[in-house]
Amino acid sequence: MTKVQLIDGVYWVGVVDWNLRDFHGYTTPRGGTYNAYLIVDEKIALVDTVKHGFGGEMVERIKEIVDPSKIDYVISNHVEMDHSGSLPDIMKIATNAQVIATEKGKEGLLRHYRGDWNFRTVKTGDELALGKKTLFFITVPMLHWPDSMFTYLKEDKILLSNDGFGQHLATSFRFDDEMCTLIGYECDTVMDEAAKYYANILMPFGGIILKKLEEIQKLGIEIKMIAPSHGMIWKNPNKIIDAYLSWAKGASKQKVLIIYDTMWNSTEIMAQEILRGVADSGVEVSLFHLRRNEWSEIVKEVLENRAIIIGSPTLHNGMFPTVGGFLTYLMGLRPKNKLWATFGSYGWAGGAVRAVNEKLKSSGYEPVESLEVNFRPDGQDMAKCYAMGQKIASMIKA
Ligand code: FEO
Repeated sequence: MTKVQLIDGVYWVGVVDWNLRDFHGYTTPRGGTYNAYLIVDEKIALVDTVKHGFGGEMVERIKEIVDPSKIDYVISNHVEMDHSGSLPDIMKIATNAQVIATEKGKEGLLRHYRGDWNFRTVKTGDELALGKKTLFFITVPMLHWPDSMFTYLKEDKILLSNDGFGQHLATSFRFDDEMCTLIGYECDTVMDEAAKYYANILMPFGGIILKKLEEIQKLGIEIKMIAPSHGMIWKNPNKIIDAYLSWAKGASKQKVLIIYDTMWNSTEIMAQEILRGVADSGVEVSLFHLRRNEWSEIVKEVLENRAIIIGSPTLHNGMFPTVGGFLTYLMGLRPKNKLWATFGSYGWAGGAVRAVNEKLKSSGYEPVESLEVNFRPDGQDMAKCYAMGQKIASMIKA
């Protein structure tokens, strides 16, 4: 891959991880990238590095542009190891480089790598002059770690946003407009992966995102390009900023999502009948079995759906283990503005629906409907399932 220039003096020097299929439990069927950026001026700065094991490839890419030992600054926007994993590699080569990070970033890097490096800590509003180009730092704590920050190239108006606005997507293209204009239909793929990334990584922090975007606006920062540390570089930043504003506010489509597991098919039969009730009411509905679908894909669906209906069979007087595991993951992501309902089946004492409801309530969500059936649903039970689907559909239409 030849060097990729964003603008005069600013280069992508990251790597494409074509074989990435699991990112700490988040499935990545399309692979991913770790984007690092090199800024060449009177001083040379490297913004972020790449995951451990890919450092050699990053260094080779830097060598196409400059001698890596001449790097003056390594900006660490975020401690997480997909971005800092090759920091020790580059610091062995660029022995005089200063590491720039937030105070929390410095703490995390020291705890993780124990590097004897020359640190400089920065906060929002601090600047670093490289010559004609100036780096402006914006701390973004909890987007998505306490150490996180954005680096803004003042003169070029490029926001190097680290995890913000990212997507896990391996392609030979680097810019969103290449995907969208040259290929056309692939445009949806970029937004689809951006939504999945937001849902699985950033969904708990919607309130912080709204405040930060407002703060950036108040700082008078104009953004012509967003270069995240994963996936495509946004030459059309408004599209992804608008999507983030919408997701952060908890906006969703008038759709119903049924998520369930089943033991001997009773909960499955209920799920299908609830689905029929929703669909017959003219509302879009989809069904996801927890052992036949990737959870990170289901979470992306949660982001986009207004109503979430959870179904579980009873096992050992509680909910099915997959339902419990999924709810633990989902509740941690704190979805906003959802309408919740629950259903399930049992053989003798019951307990699944009660356990699901307790889990939802302890996370601050109140189910609007609940339905539990003994053994296989009979005609009356089926009528209740159908009616529940209709009721949920009418509630989200209202
Ligand atoms: Fe929070 Fe891409 O790491």
